[in-house]
Amino acid sequence: MVKANLNFAKLPQRYLFLDIAKRVAAFSEKHPEADIIRMGIGDVTRPLAPAVIDAMHKAVDECADKSTFHGYGPERGYQWLREAIVKGDYAPLGVELTAEDIFINDGAKSDTGNIGDILSSDNLVGITDPVYPVYVDTNLMRGFNIKYIICNEENGFTGDIPTEKLDIVYLCYPNNPTGAVITRDKLKKWVDYALENGSLIMYDSAYEAFIRDPLIPHSIYEIEGAKKCAIEFRSFSKTAGFTGVRCGYTVVPRELEVSDGNGGKIALNGMWERRQSCKFNGASYISQCGALAVYTPEGQKQIRSTIDYYLETARIIRQSLNEAGLKALGGENAPYIWAQTPGGISSWEFFDRLLGEAGVVVTPGSGFGPAGEGWFRITSFADRQRTIEAMERIKKIL
Ligand code: MLT
Repeated sequence: MVKANLNFAKLPQRYLFLDIAKRVAAFSEKHPEADIIRMGIGDVTRPLAPAVIDAMHKAVDECADKSTFHGYGPERGYQWLREAIVKGDYAPLGVELTAEDIFINDGAKSDTGNIGDILSSDNLVGITDPVYPVYVDTNLMRGFNIKYIICNEENGFTGDIPTEKLDIVYLCYPNNPTGAVITRDKLKKWVDYALENGSLIMYDSAYEAFIRDPLIPHSIYEIEGAKKCAIEFRSFSKTAGFTGVRCGYTVVPRELEVSDGNGGKIALNGMWERRQSCKFNGASYISQCGALAVYTPEGQKQIRSTIDYYLETARIIRQSLNEAGLKALGGENAPYIWAQTPGGISSWEFFDRLLGEAGVVVTPGSGFGPAGEGWFRITSFADRQRTIEAMERIKKIL
């Protein structure tokens, strides 16, 4: 008989956000009258920017004509989009990259999950706790061993630099789920650790567009030496409302090398191209045209105004939860607010209470790892009026 990949036995039974969706569906079935406000999964609700919509309409029209039709795109993504990323996202930070360092994808989730394909499962992986569950689940699927790096209020949810040698470290800032940001000094400590130990940092900066504090780094490559030790993941999902369109990119600097196992070195850029050209056929031409429009002056203005809207919603959430007597953090340079459950009750117990008594869906902190126990995550992506109503309902039951 064929054997299943037994690593799957190490995973939680269901992916966190599917687990929540199933629980909410079961509740709705039992209480069809319930008016549920969803603030669990970080899915955007504001429409795409007009500049993006125009560009995608135009791309569809091109594909409707034989002379301008587009089939398979280049394996790294269209050159014009990769150049726009280098110019629009990195040059203003003083970071020198070229289009050859960039790989377009269908969103950061795929690449953060797939990147392990090019690394040996002998590597010891360090993952922060609490954490976006994709890093843990995908590393478990491949049989990697994981060490958890505890993130808490004392270390500003940025983890203490390990005393042992970890081969791969996943970092995400602005952070999902805690909404915390990392200072330049602390990020430098992580980069120095990686350079000293020959480690590789997987830096997920999918939420960088929410940073408003000028002192907070947007990219790990703002730190000297990071191009030799880090891969960075970016996404148009939260930046420009592409959760349904699908487009993002990964930066694998050409100077980034790892051991070839024979005393030599091998560049990850070429390996990732080999992997992608074999297993991935690119984000659609239409999505990439939409993404390009993000870098136009109108596109930039429009996406900034949408993110400002979410940040103001985040401020309202934080303030309301504080008024309700709960400790609430994050949400200043990130779309997530991380709050403590009342009276020390468990995250899932509070999740059930909020759903049952207030009809509000949040994400239980323990779903992001044991260190999230006693906390819950709430997103600022819901409609403003619905958010205000959710806050009123929460205040009433506390
Ligand atoms: C979340 O809620 O954590 C995110 O929406 C998940 C994702 O971006 O894949």
